[in-house]
Amino acid sequence: MGTFADIIQGGMGVAVSNWKLAKEVASKGKIGVVSGTALDSVLARRLQLGDPGGHIRRAMADFPWPDMVKRIWDRYFVADGKSPEEPFKPVPLPSLTPRKSAIELLLVANFVEVFLAKEGHEGTVGINYLEKIQMPTLPSLLGAMLAGVNVVLMGAGIPQAIPGALDQLAAWDPAEIKMQVEEQGTHGPTTQRFDPREYCQGDLPLLSRPAFLAIVSSDIVAKTLSRKATGAVDGFVVEYHTAGGHNAPPRRSRGDSANAGNHTYGEIDLPDIARIRDLGKPFWLAGGFASPEALKEAQSLGAMGVQVGTAFALCEESGILPEIRYETIRHYLAGDLEIRTDFAASPTGYPFKVATPAPHLVPVAPLPEPCRVCDLGYLRRPYRTDAGAIAYRCPGELGGFVKKGGTVAETVGKQCLCNGLMASVGLAQIRDGILEAPLLTMGEDLSFLPHVLKDGSPVYHAGDLIDYLES
Ligand SMILES: Cc1cc2nc3c(=O)[nH]c(=O)nc-3n(C[C@H](O)[C@H](O)[C@H](O)COP(=O)(O)O)c2cc1C
Repeated sequence: MGTFADIIQGGMGVAVSNWKLAKEVASKGKIGVVSGTALDSVLARRLQLGDPGGHIRRAMADFPWPDMVKRIWDRYFVADGKSPEEPFKPVPLPSLTPRKSAIELLLVANFVEVFLAKEGHEGTVGINYLEKIQMPTLPSLLGAMLAGVNVVLMGAGIPQAIPGALDQLAAWDPAEIKMQVEEQGTHGPTTQRFDPREYCQGDLPLLSRPAFLAIVSSDIVAKTLSRKATGAVDGFVVEYHTAGGHNAPPRRSRGDSANAGNHTYGEIDLPDIARIRDLGKPFWLAGGFASPEALKEAQSLGAMGVQVGTAFALCEESGILPEIRYETIRHYLAGDLEIRTDFAASPTGYPFKVATPAPHLVPVAPLPEPCRVCDLGYLRRPYRTDAGAIAYRCPGELGGFVKKGGTVAETVGKQCLCNGLMASVGLAQIRDGILEAPLLTMGEDLSFLPHVLKDGSPVYHAGDLIDYLES
């Protein structure tokens, strides 16, 4: 791939940074990144909405194995879209031992998103995954590589095994990653092995190994990855705790029971940029860097540039529903938008930024327990049952989690991120007439807004933002 650009449009799940946003950014010479999270559900739901514009059909026609595509099309496509009262059909839940249909859906869904983002220009397209969501990763990577993804970015954990997996998949060799399983007891490590030739037969296309950028919040993690990753780490995105989405926990309260509940960020949580620069790899700074001054400052510290999330999440090409974006912008301008770091909400255990733009759009309290249905399951964690079998549980299931042996403490304040984030991009599930409510995440800094908005309108485009950042 060519030299790296100065601006990365951050990966934003679920489907906030969709192919339309990434395509727009990449065609303007920057790095456009699609979110790779939950793409199997996103594809299945878009097909059930009738594939408006025929984009998925067009991308699927380019997938090298038409039989696979046909099985997915026949299962999920609904001409003219399902009725609003009808629930979306479920897709297979992530698991350590996924069925063939689950693997096929991941391959095709990741292919489609990257194919569409790359269509019609020569720019650079990346895909973002979370280390915490391990089970769908290997087939997802292969699907994205089949569409020629240029960069893979991964954070929310220490993605040590992924660089090596990329090397293996690029050679069509089996790849293996160690899975985190709770309550393993005396059982040995559990791994997931994925042999691409089991699913893709006949003439195998040549694959390029995408660049790998690790998203880190400390120089210590960057150094560990530089030394211990299974293959090349080509650079770092260094994310401050003001960024949207998940954040690294404050170091003082990490694993320190005496400090449990005492969550505050301080000096100690700031990455040492000089140490990151000394690692000698390209890096970008993220978290409140959406201004021309911040871009220049990052470059003066030795960074290639910046990764920007929130400012792209609120533009017209973003996947967030327009009414939510406009409401958020209006509340920011009126001075009553609340953005806070919620240390309990995310079932991952990581702090998560929650924005509350409008009480009628976002529930003030978590959904009551009977409404919690773990039917997307991306944040389910494998654990060993007393009988030694593998089962799955998510603290977002509340009582369901406790029934499966989890502690009550872990469920306190938990939101169902999977369903809430899906709702914010217009793919809400409906059950018995009750629509899942949207959950919105934003970074702390929206001071870019007055610079990109004109004439009192809440509408601006990715191109307006890029022009501002480079002004
Ligand atoms: C709506 C939203 C969703 C996000 N989702 C993800 C994600 O799925 N994976 C990830 O690595 N980062 C995610 N992020 C973080 C961004 O990629 C980016 O690093 C961050 O937003 C930069 O800080 P800023 O919001 O102040 O620009 C998300 C951010 C936002 C605003």
